[in-house]
Amino acid sequence: NENPTLMEGFQNVPNTDWNLPQNIAWAQKIKTDWKTPENIIGTTIPVIGDLDQHERYTVKVSNWSGTPPWDYEMSLKEDYQKAIENRTEWQSFTVEQRVHLLKKAAVEIEKNRADLIGVAVAELGKTVKEVDVEVSEAIDFANFYAESSLEIAKEFTSDDEGINLVLSPWNFPIAIPIGGALASLAAGKKVILKPSTNASACAYLTCKCLWEAGIPKDALYFLPCEESILDDFLSTGNIFDAVILTGGTETAHFLLERNPQLNLYAETGGKNSTIVTSLADKEQACINIVQSAFGNAGQKCSATSLLILTEDVFNDQEFKTLLKDAALSKVFGNPWDFSTEVGPLAVPISEKIKHVIQNTSDNQWLVKPRLNGNHMLTPGIIWDVTTDDYPYQNELFGPILSVMKANDLKHAVEIANNVDYGLTAGIESLDDNEIEYWNNHIEAGNKYVNRSTTGAIVQRQPFGGIKASCFGFGMKAGGINYVLQFTNIKSKTTDW
Ligand code: SER
Repeated sequence: NENPTLMEGFQNVPNTDWNLPQNIAWAQKIKTDWKTPENIIGTTIPVIGDLDQHERYTVKVSNWSGTPPWDYEMSLKEDYQKAIENRTEWQSFTVEQRVHLLKKAAVEIEKNRADLIGVAVAELGKTVKEVDVEVSEAIDFANFYAESSLEIAKEFTSDDEGINLVLSPWNFPIAIPIGGALASLAAGKKVILKPSTNASACAYLTCKCLWEAGIPKDALYFLPCEESILDDFLSTGNIFDAVILTGGTETAHFLLERNPQLNLYAETGGKNSTIVTSLADKEQACINIVQSAFGNAGQKCSATSLLILTEDVFNDQEFKTLLKDAALSKVFGNPWDFSTEVGPLAVPISEKIKHVIQNTSDNQWLVKPRLNGNHMLTPGIIWDVTTDDYPYQNELFGPILSVMKANDLKHAVEIANNVDYGLTAGIESLDDNEIEYWNNHIEAGNKYVNRSTTGAIVQRQPFGGIKASCFGFGMKAGGINYVLQFTNIKSKTTDW
């Protein structure tokens, strides 16, 4: 969908303008308010829904800052059973009533922008600016999916019943869980959200905005749980109309192997390339590349992790220095500091990243990463990675960029395509013929020309992959067909 049809009535919301000193002061206040998170969010992140009262257990998790000051309540099998069986008035609302509430939800999310930023910094170590963009995306999802359901209702009538399950990740702890939930609600579905446990506080605060807006708790259930609780509901048949997963490729494989019938809509990993040719604006290219590779500490499925340079660029000392300087200029540190651009890893450093650090010799690093504890990892760039090397095929999900050499653009595209995944891809070139060649041959769901490969904008860049980046079904999130795919369209014919 290269030129998405613009939907009348929808406009993206702006991110916070950080050029204005009052906005920076506003961000500093979040830091002060969130010194005592329990005053804002309570001491327990509860299970929410129209459920029976019974004893549940809580868990504690550790995170980048030690241990968050709250406990996470975990739902039990009977909570899921009840949520699946309950009826909800949501399904008797008109489309207009639902749209009204979804748009109110967008307003609530905007009103709570400061606390949503606070909780994501506190829980996952995201930087203030990265969360700000994510909050905008969540608001856009609410408005866009509301408008989508109006568009659908112009052409079709639908049976509003059924239930979706959203299984969401920790790296976009606000936009991704709520995106799946909002699209389900817009399609007239009841929805259960099972957030990643270590991102539950973020998902909870975001859901709260929807409940505050008037979306009933028996239409949007918030049921964090151990994964084993879901086994009975996912291993045979189709209890859910859609299981919307954003997560690891292995998880999607596992779910589908166990139950090939599962209605799985999965967006999984990426091993994304940016190609740079000699016809690029080198300085702008380096700015885009470090943003793509190191934003959110590289913990984005959309991150560039392979930088493929045509030979002349690879041998260009000026480019090499620019790239190194761009990486070193990224301010690394505590996510609460407003100037920080690369913060900690949200989860302890993975074995994959450790493996790469241990097996890369000093002279291969253009920028050598430094690790302090389990979470504080500065950006690293490995120079001259080949297709035989471990980082070529393996998604590292951290701030490590591999630089590869290609003979020419055609060869660069071959290297980029010869990975299992197909999520995002970038090219840095000012030449139309090169861009056209790349566009016609690169295998990726989202293609970006002279722009970073992360931060898809709702409606403008509907987001989703191909190859091993996408399992089961799945139209692009933030795109025109996303709600439609969850809608039970009715068709009626009468012969007289
Ligand atoms: N939509 C995000 C991005 O574009 C990834 O989930 O970076």
